[in-house]
Amino acid sequence: MFLRVDFNVPLDGAQITDDTRIRSTLPSIRYLIEEGAKIICATHLGRPKSDKDKKYSVKPVADRLSQLIGKEVKFIGELIGSQVENAKSQLNEGEILMLENLRFHPGETENDEEFARELAKGINVYINDAFGASHRAHASIQKITEFVPVAAAGFLLKKEIDFLSLATENPPQPYTLILGGAKVSDKIPIINNLMEKAQKIMIGGAMAYTFLKAKGINVGNSLVENDYLDQCRDIIKTAEEKKIKLLLPVDHVAAMKIEPEVTIRMVKKGKDIPEEMMGLDIGFETIELYSNELKDAELIVWNGPMGVFEIENFAAGTLEIAKAVAKSKAIIIIGGGDSISAVNKAGVADRISHLSTGGGASLEFLSGLKLPGIESLSEAE
Ligand code: 3PG
Repeated sequence: MFLRVDFNVPLDGAQITDDTRIRSTLPSIRYLIEEGAKIICATHLGRPKSDKDKKYSVKPVADRLSQLIGKEVKFIGELIGSQVENAKSQLNEGEILMLENLRFHPGETENDEEFARELAKGINVYINDAFGASHRAHASIQKITEFVPVAAAGFLLKKEIDFLSLATENPPQPYTLILGGAKVSDKIPIINNLMEKAQKIMIGGAMAYTFLKAKGINVGNSLVENDYLDQCRDIIKTAEEKKIKLLLPVDHVAAMKIEPEVTIRMVKKGKDIPEEMMGLDIGFETIELYSNELKDAELIVWNGPMGVFEIENFAAGTLEIAKAVAKSKAIIIIGGGDSISAVNKAGVADRISHLSTGGGASLEFLSGLKLPGIESLSEAE
């Protein structure tokens, strides 16, 4: 069988700095080993330009998987060809063979038919457990499903779909959506898709400043996407008409630069951010307002930090919201690498019902887009 995983993990040299994505697939891998499958496992890693980009070899990832399951993972350093076919044929039940980085072959990102056929050679069952890459129409995600007798979801992919569907279809009420991060343009499709499902939408991060400017509020030198002011105005208007609480920050932590040692200014409610300063975190009143508004939620979905939380002076908003989220009795779904590292930093990750392993994939799912990696499974049989 062919198991497509997303082991696109952060690396420092050959050192894996966060193995969450590998750990998240262990239920599928352990199950397949117990069932005696002969497992061909494959992932992409980073965005290599060619197979000469050896720093993107998946060997360290194969080694970490082997440590985690306490069993040898054979690593072949190839993707297709006679050596691979030979290794496949020698595989015993319950053994794992890990292929090299799928993106070392140009056919992967081109969704190439020939490459997909080669990957599918001798495969009886294809399992997609790579939620994080399922928004990519790539050969090992989409095309391959045309050349295998059965294509199904692994346990991780199923769990992601089950939780994220709670946010998009018949969500438990009251439902609060918290969105942050730098770019409003990334999050507008989510707001438009979930606006009538969530009763409260709380906005933080630099994306809030485009909304505030759209309301005619002076935001000084804060990051604003001027091309999206009209769309923000439309969202504000729709929220008013449909009686959806769209909450924007009422006070701010501002500074001239995004630097650790810079002097900060607390901009109180009703005051303008000074011309030469940028808003870089939500202020204490906003933290209190948002924390109170979270109390009655039955479902909370959070994507994107409330400020530049990598820098201590601008971290309080994100960390306090993480704590407030964790205190609620709601089902809590968190997506996006930054929000996940925020709940880890705040020490509340174990209170979260679901930490999505998908960045771009979870954004697209929440925006209501169809993901090629999920769509092709229902088509293949
Ligand atoms: C991710 O990290 O979001 C996925 O592994 C997809 O990676 P990509 O953006 O390079 O396609």
